[in-house]
Amino acid sequence: METLRTLLDKTKIGQLTLKNRFIRAAIGDSTENGHLNEKIVRKYETVARGGVGTIITGFTLVDEAEKSFPIPALYDDRFIEEYRKLTDIVHSHSTNIILQLVYVGSSVKGKIGERTVWGPSAVANLTTRVIPKEMTIGEIKSVQTKFAEAALRAKEAGFDGVEIHAAHGFLLSQFITPYYNRRSDMYGGSIENRARMLLETYSAIRNAVGEEFQVWVKVNSTDGFEGGLTLDDCRYVCKELARLGINAIEVSGNWMMLSNKKEIYFKEEAALIAKENPVAVIVTGGNRDFAEMELVLNTSDIGYFGMARPLISEPDLINRYEKRASRK
Ligand SMILES: Cc1cc2nc3c(=O)[nH]c(=O)nc-3n(C[C@H](O)[C@H](O)[C@H](O)COP(=O)(O)O)c2cc1C
Repeated sequence: METLRTLLDKTKIGQLTLKNRFIRAAIGDSTENGHLNEKIVRKYETVARGGVGTIITGFTLVDEAEKSFPIPALYDDRFIEEYRKLTDIVHSHSTNIILQLVYVGSSVKGKIGERTVWGPSAVANLTTRVIPKEMTIGEIKSVQTKFAEAALRAKEAGFDGVEIHAAHGFLLSQFITPYYNRRSDMYGGSIENRARMLLETYSAIRNAVGEEFQVWVKVNSTDGFEGGLTLDDCRYVCKELARLGINAIEVSGNWMMLSNKKEIYFKEEAALIAKENPVAVIVTGGNRDFAEMELVLNTSDIGYFGMARPLISEPDLINRYEKRASRK
């Protein structure tokens, strides 16, 4: 008889060992000057103590141009030292830590001042109403370089990898989304063109950090609005990223619309992506029921389960699950 896979299996993604299949999904941290502070570091330590195998940090700025957005940043070498303290503390609890990288674009909230906000096209953001300037090819390349430089700093700071935030309406996801991307050049139109920004960003990062370092991506399975990216768009993007060597794909979507749903929100979509691609797949959103997660684990190729809100309210949830499981 085939042995069942369990949520507490120790597994490997490339060279990285994960002590269980639970991932703390990204939860943004708030700071005024881009710097980490004691409160933020303690929060990560509490989560690491709670038993989760791997933590994905909150989104982190790659470009100084966005510094008015009050979240942590890694757009300069001077930040590296403080991140080194964070990775040391998390590693001391045998927990992995992956840094999530973002370019915010027109999803920016709060003060923008005189700054020009960039986007694939000059289309008003459905949430913030900010109208960005359509990026030139030179600006596109400069953002890709910023991602690569920040990823290299993350490696120097001791992170186990980086995750490219290409979901939830931030700049990289907007390039894939027909509603936001109305370009007529090589970055717009067909899915091959709309995917180009993300794929080139991935390649720039990979060139900077080398083959061994983990590079993950978070994608929207669908955007869930008229003109948004479709599951077929997402499948194309995932296949190309897998072909290029991405280590893990975290499947998300418009989770806020689904927060009343009583099951794992994107399990069908993530299962399809996992079936089609020989890479680790994480499903995030609505993971509340361990029995459901075990069932998904044993009836699909999904290997990992991302949790955000459950670990805000109960940071030691995984330790308690492990204790219960060991009594069975
Ligand atoms: C307060 C809060 C902050 C979040 N910040 C981020 C973030 O920085 N990056 C990201 O990719 N997702 C972010 N998310 C989304 C979560 O990672 C996750 O995709 C979503 O909450 C669904 O998972 P859940 O049902 O386990 O909460 C955030 C969610 C919450 C509730």
